[in-house]
Amino acid sequence: MVSTRTSALESLKPDALDPEGATSAAANAAERDALGDRLIQGSMRRSFNSNIDIDWDAPQDPDLFYLPPEMMSLYGTPLWESMTHRQRVELSRQEAANTLTRAVWFENTLNQGLLRAMLHQDPTSRNVHYALTEIGDETRHMVMFGRAVSAIGALPYRLSRREALAVQAMPLAYRGLMLWVAALCGEEVIDESQKQNARHPDVQPIMLQVFRIHVTEEARHIRYAREGVRRRIARAPWWERQFVATANGGAAFILRRLYYDKEVYRRCGLPVREAMRQARNNEQVRARRRESFEGLHGFLTENGLLNPISRLMWRSHGFL
Ligand SMILES: [Fe+2]
Ligand SMILES: [Fe+2]
Repeated sequence: MVSTRTSALESLKPDALDPEGATSAAANAAERDALGDRLIQGSMRRSFNSNIDIDWDAPQDPDLFYLPPEMMSLYGTPLWESMTHRQRVELSRQEAANTLTRAVWFENTLNQGLLRAMLHQDPTSRNVHYALTEIGDETRHMVMFGRAVSAIGALPYRLSRREALAVQAMPLAYRGLMLWVAALCGEEVIDESQKQNARHPDVQPIMLQVFRIHVTEEARHIRYAREGVRRRIARAPWWERQFVATANGGAAFILRRLYYDKEVYRRCGLPVREAMRQARNNEQVRARRRESFEGLHGFLTENGLLNPISRLMWRSHGFL
C-alpha cells in the first residue's frame, strides 16, 4: 500500500506556509508516490537480467542481420545495391554496435540526472524508490548493451575526449522539466525503433532478445517520464518551458548519429564521404526516422514543448 502522508521533508517546504499550496503539494506527492508504487509492482512482475535471460553463447548465423536491413542507413541506396550480402551483414553489425554503445552513454547521463535530483527528494518516498529501481534497470541495460557489442564480435564506438566532455555536461542541464524531456528524447525514439526491430525474421536471435528486454522495461520508464513532464509543466515558469522547448532540438543532433556515422562506414571499408551523402539523402530511411519520432512529436506538441528553433533542428536531422 502507498502511504499518502505528507513526509516530514515535504512539510518543511515553503508551501507549508500557504494552506492551499500545501494541499496541492501533498496531493502531488501522493500522486507521484502512487505512480512510483505501481511501477515498482510492475518491475517486480516483469524485469530481466541479461546475464541469465540471454543465451550469449548461442551460435550466430553468419547470414542473419544484426539490425533489420530496412532500418539500416544505406538500405536501398546505390551503395547498398553494390554490396554483397555478407558486406550488408557486416554493416548491420557495425550499425548495431554503434547504437548499443551510444545507448550506454545516454543511460549513463540519465542515471546521473536521476541521482542528482534525488539529493533534493525524500528517500522514504515510493517515487524515489521507483527512480532507484529505474536506475537499476538502466545499469543492467548498460551491461546488456556492452555484452551484446562483444557477443556480436564488434568493437565499441568510444567517445572522443571532446565528446566525453560534452556528454559530461549534459546531466548538469537535466533539472526539473528538462530531466524528463531529456529522458523521453532518448527513450522514446530508441524504443520506437527497437519495437519495430523486435520481431524481424532476418535478425539474429541474440539481438531480438536484447530488443525485447529493453522494450519491456523501457515502457515503464517512458510512463514515468511522461508523468514527470505533465506534473512539472503545470508549475514550470515560462522561461523554463521556453528553455526546454528550445533545448530538446539538441537531441536531434545527438540522435542522428545513432542512425548513420562516419566511423561505421570506415570500419566497413566503405567510401566514407559517399556513404554519408547517400545515407543523408536516403528517403526510405528518413521515413523510418520520422516514424520513430512520431509518438514523441505528438507528446511534445500537446504539451507546448516545441518551438520554431527545436522544430528546425528536428527537421534538419530528418525526424520531421
Ligand atoms: Fe534502458
Ligand atoms: Fe530507460
